[in-house]
Amino acid sequence: MYYPEETVEEVRQRSDIVDVIGSYVHLQKKGANYMGLCPFHNEKSPSFSVHQGKQMYHCFGCGVGGNVFTFVMEYENFTFVEALKFLAERAGVKLPEIEYSEEAKRAADFKGKLYEINKLAAKFFFYQLKNGQGRAAYDYFKNRGLKEETIVKFGLGYSSKYRDTLYKYLKQQGYEDSFLKDTGLVTFDEKHGGYDKFWNRAMFPIMDAGGKVIAFGGRVLGDGTPKYLNSPETKIFDKSRNLYGLNYAKLSRKPYMLICEGYMDVIALHQAGFSNAVASLGTALTGLQAALLARYTKEVLLTYDSDGAGTKAALRAIPILKEAGISVKVVNMKPYKDPDEFIKMLGAEEYQKRLDVAAGSFFFELSVLEQSYSFDDPEQKTKFFHETAKKLLEFSDEIERTNYEEAVARKYGISYDMLHKLVIRYGSQMVVVGGTYVPATELQKEHSSIRGEQRRQKREGEDAGMQAQKLLLTWLSSEPKLFGRVKGIITPDDFNEGFFKDIASMAFAQYEQEGNISPARIVSHFEDKEEQTRAAELFQTGFREEMDAAGQKKAFEDTVRRVKQSAIEQEIEKAMESGDIERFQKLIEEKNRYKNNFPIPEYIPE
Ligand code: UTP
Ligand code: MN
Repeated sequence: MYYPEETVEEVRQRSDIVDVIGSYVHLQKKGANYMGLCPFHNEKSPSFSVHQGKQMYHCFGCGVGGNVFTFVMEYENFTFVEALKFLAERAGVKLPEIEYSEEAKRAADFKGKLYEINKLAAKFFFYQLKNGQGRAAYDYFKNRGLKEETIVKFGLGYSSKYRDTLYKYLKQQGYEDSFLKDTGLVTFDEKHGGYDKFWNRAMFPIMDAGGKVIAFGGRVLGDGTPKYLNSPETKIFDKSRNLYGLNYAKLSRKPYMLICEGYMDVIALHQAGFSNAVASLGTALTGLQAALLARYTKEVLLTYDSDGAGTKAALRAIPILKEAGISVKVVNMKPYKDPDEFIKMLGAEEYQKRLDVAAGSFFFELSVLEQSYSFDDPEQKTKFFHETAKKLLEFSDEIERTNYEEAVARKYGISYDMLHKLVIRYGSQMVVVGGTYVPATELQKEHSSIRGEQRRQKREGEDAGMQAQKLLLTWLSSEPKLFGRVKGIITPDDFNEGFFKDIASMAFAQYEQEGNISPARIVSHFEDKEEQTRAAELFQTGFREEMDAAGQKKAFEDTVRRVKQSAIEQEIEKAMESGDIERFQKLIEEKNRYKNNFPIPEYIPE
């Protein structure tokens, strides 16, 4: 970290979280918490809670959470150091002057400087739009139906037709070549020196979920290739981790998000009132993008182009989104090409109607499959039903599968019994490999089903162990005297995942030294925002309110035993692998000791 830990801790202690957040959000006291409307997503009833004792906040609606630093970072779009400086100033803490080597300083400042220069470039391009040559781009946007306010909202711009307008400007602002070469804005070669990456293009600044400009897309004016030129990856731009429009879409009040193909679709949709639209950045949708979306929504409607490429993109995106726990529908925009065109021709209301009747992903996939079979030919029709039966096996929940079997039977005019028999037949002939069903030869079947079952059991065991560890940390932090009850039983080594182990080590050390724990200080240890949120989540209670005292006692004791058992199981596995029989036997005995009746001692104050 940039500043010494004591300084960070002093600033944190002098910045009361209720006080700080209260200056942004109207908070009302409710029991031990203060509640308010979450500033990170739109909501009508408060699910954003701030806990004064723990100096933490958490939103039960969108899942954000953290300490006072995290809050200011999120809200103001600050880096950690910016947040620290801001809060220090507010609390009247004087930060020490830090002498760093040139190298260390550069590394620490590098990202901040990249954000700064991208913002500067965006302003520059925006300014050019109204200036001389920029007219062409401005007219282009106008011709595509964009209103002035939309151009401003998305910060659209123009990059000059001369080879180094931006480069010269940035040099004038004091940026060195050694830095510029890593910004993605300027290209260097031996013959020409530095020149702009983007020439004579309509410019789309790309923003991260927090609204900071991180890169650009530039569209050619007229015909030419490439149609869109995008910034290369930099230290702040990873195109597989960001979504165009998400900074606005995350604030929309809609229960689902729309994913479309490109910049112009996103902008046209937002302008038409569909402020929940996002697009990936010139590549197919990635798992990281799906995970990012899953933080904001449970449902996605794909509104890709109506052509073959769009259909293919949808078929690719469906399993990726489902894997992230998002349910998917597909919007039919025929006879129009994309949402932009559709809305121009038929208007927003008609588009909304298409959203309302969008097909669930299963039936979308089936309708694509259908196209490769001619139903007039009995043989092909048979094949189609065989394929469909296999596909139905993707539903592992039996009730869900039955519902789909019924729906397919109705839709395609086959009797339910017949279809069901076929499904069952395939079910006994297929094995799951990597999440999908494939035919099994007898040998494969035997092998992979046993291995698969073992793997499944193991995974579930791991999940349960981790669940218990997480819960135990929550218990301990909410009531530190419980540390007294696990003394001699649980140590930080019983937490097997790196992240939980880190937290446990800090929590145990704090309790040891201070007789208490400070969740907010633990959160400060993580620099990564995702990790901060994950840590903050651990410290949110609430689950206990529904339990009476006896129930709480039992739940806590069960959790302790479970954590211990899963830790021992890990050791058993290691002993098995290394063939250490003696240790293996000892561990088995130990594990048996922690069976359900193992007494967890009461807390006795020292
Ligand atoms: P399209 O070619 O469908 O763009 O590419 P569009 O939005 O319909 O373009 P307009 O309406 O003619 O302006 C969809 C997306 O694919 C990426 C861009 O992100 C674009 O928005 N793309 C496309 C590229 O990255 N490079 C290209 O050369 C073309
Ligand atoms: Mn398109």
